[in-house]
Amino acid sequence: MNKPFQQTLQADGSVAKAILQWHTSHGRQGLPWQNTKDPYKVWLSEIMLQQTQVVTVLAYYPRFLQRFPDVASLAAAPLDDVLALWSGLGYYSRARNLHRCAQAVMQAHAGAFPSSAEQLQTLPGIGRSTAAAIAAFCFAERVAILDANVKRVLTRLLGYGKDLGVAVNERELWSLATDLLPTTQLHDSMPRHTQAMMDLGATLCTARKPACERCPLHTRCAARVQGKVDQYPVKKRKIKRSSESWWLLRMQRADGSVFLQQRPVPGVWAGLFSLPMYDSREALMSTLTAQQQSECIDHPAFLHVLTHKDMHLHVVSLSWKSRATVQGEGQWIAAADLPHTGLPAPIRKLLSS
Ligand code: ADE
Repeated sequence: MNKPFQQTLQADGSVAKAILQWHTSHGRQGLPWQNTKDPYKVWLSEIMLQQTQVVTVLAYYPRFLQRFPDVASLAAAPLDDVLALWSGLGYYSRARNLHRCAQAVMQAHAGAFPSSAEQLQTLPGIGRSTAAAIAAFCFAERVAILDANVKRVLTRLLGYGKDLGVAVNERELWSLATDLLPTTQLHDSMPRHTQAMMDLGATLCTARKPACERCPLHTRCAARVQGKVDQYPVKKRKIKRSSESWWLLRMQRADGSVFLQQRPVPGVWAGLFSLPMYDSREALMSTLTAQQQSECIDHPAFLHVLTHKDMHLHVVSLSWKSRATVQGEGQWIAAADLPHTGLPAPIRKLLSS
């Protein structure tokens, strides 16, 4: 296996110097949240900018500040007023967290935002990168941001090809990002460097059609040397975990035989034999007579974990006294045949208990 190519840049400050120089002549200047060190204003802008384009935020930011000029007024406002002003920006959990964060600043920090990234991160809605941005802009702390734009810049620059979906790799990139920060005149350099990294990612080192020829780092950029700029960053698609609940009807005769149904294909446990499964207790009950319903016993739910799915299984049992047939397709399987029947693991376990 080829070891992934990764450039180690000398932490001699030359990368930071090139970035700062570029910022002076090409960085975005004059945005309303720049040229302030008020953590309230910077925090608000960073939250608004998390999933929203600068042009959109430009319309909302001044209106929001006019209505809520400081953290105290925001904390005191009804949540509905905050949500109304946020309306149209999307991702409303941001607005709810904003309100909670303002209240936390008032209650736990006497109305003053804490001044270190470490402490800022403890507040609602402030993640590691946002905390670093606020701390760098307002307090010149030497901490690295690592939002999606900056990940793109750094993975390309370094030829960092490890999967950023894996937490240790992301931590490693964070550490490499820190190595590349300025080391001198932090009061001036940290806010500018932070803004420059954001601007590089937003304006030149874009996901599609990056403008490498205009990039201040192009002679040092490993991805460009490799001719593989489009292959960074590497983030394997994470399959989202889902959670679902099933109700299982366990009918067992005195001789130990069990009523099972073959699962449809495709679907959960496709083709295997299972206790009859329903997506609600009501659906299960509707297959039973009133007499049977009154004899049912509900058992505590148990969790079955699949690779991408949590299954909460609720067993409802019914000892089968009558010889009447049950609704739906299925068959009585003798206890002796169960070991040779294709059963999902949790059903096998359940039936042997
Ligand atoms: N995106 C996130 N933070 C930003 C900032 N301060 N300026 C421009 N774009 C941003």
